[in-house]
Amino acid sequence: VGKIRRLAVLTSGGDAPGMNAAIRSVVRSALAHDIATFGVRRGYAGLVDGAYEEINNRQVGGILQFGGTMLSSMRHPQFRNEEIQLQAIAKLEEAGIDGLVVIGGNGSQQGSLALHRHGFPVVGVASTIDNDLAETETTIGVDTALNTAMSYVDKLKDTAISHHRAFIVEVMGRDSGYLALTTALATGAENVILPEFDVAPEDIVRDVEEAYGRDKSYYIVIVAEGARLKAQQITHYLNSDPGSFEARLSVLGHIQRGGSPTVRDRLLASQLANAAVEAIVAGRTGVVAGWMRGKPIEIPIEEAVRPCQKVTPDMIELLRVLSR
Ligand code: ADP
Ligand code: F6P
Repeated sequence: VGKIRRLAVLTSGGDAPGMNAAIRSVVRSALAHDIATFGVRRGYAGLVDGAYEEINNRQVGGILQFGGTMLSSMRHPQFRNEEIQLQAIAKLEEAGIDGLVVIGGNGSQQGSLALHRHGFPVVGVASTIDNDLAETETTIGVDTALNTAMSYVDKLKDTAISHHRAFIVEVMGRDSGYLALTTALATGAENVILPEFDVAPEDIVRDVEEAYGRDKSYYIVIVAEGARLKAQQITHYLNSDPGSFEARLSVLGHIQRGGSPTVRDRLLASQLANAAVEAIVAGRTGVVAGWMRGKPIEIPIEEAVRPCQKVTPDMIELLRVLSR
């Protein structure tokens, strides 16, 4: 493996709080090896168009505390096409760029896997609020998204208590129930509905009635957007049950993706992006920098993008026990 001299970096898929901190860490970690960094605009779309220019250590100054991504992000489904991938590589080589860092989630790392299989030196940085990459305990953005969801549910709880209501709260996470389950545990919710386990509407109605019967004065259920039974349907079912609480729906939506990253996400972003640069500099390509047992690890991309199970029966049981 030849020495890397010019490194490109992109952010792809849904933005996640901490992506800016990761970009800063890539640029400055590369600088420590005398490597020039090129910022790619708009994820894989910009990679295909050649939309990159050099970014220096000063240009990434003062960004670590901001949400979003200074490079812009985008979904670019065309990047699944092999010919387009090869065009992107040809453009990178034309520009003398000999390595790429992809900051993003599961979909984005499938893009980096494709580039790796074509022989281009690439490393990933695990970054998505969905926490849907395998072999890493967490990803950049999860902690901030959870703190945001938690503070909103705390506020809803005030009204739930005051009005003796049921609140059905939809949270993001795509096909993963991780955000929903951890939000539920952190807010003391009565129930959680996940993509990983199907429930019947009658079961939820019964659970609400039982909670009412135990003299609960409100009921909060967190519903993952990817669950088969949708938050809106659940609200409808509960409102047709005159025996218990009046129900209201609240969809948290994209507020979960924005905002200043928490301490945890700033540290994670700084460390994972640095680990990714160190890996590619040492010639260890085709890996995603992730987090395990208190430190960064390198996960082969093909393992990181495999389906993962971050929701455990133990956590669900804990919610059941604690919501009595
Ligand atoms: P995330 O990285 O947050 O999971 P997406 O799933 O939307 O976000 O993926 C982001 C982008 O990654 C897609 O728009 C596409 O450009 C690229 N991508 C996703 N899946 C693949 C794939 N199988 N092959 C190549 N590129 C992909
Ligand atoms: O991947 C992050 C995420 O916020 C998912 O939780 C959600 O399903 C999706 O992106 C929403 O995408 P968009 O911003 O395109 O509506």
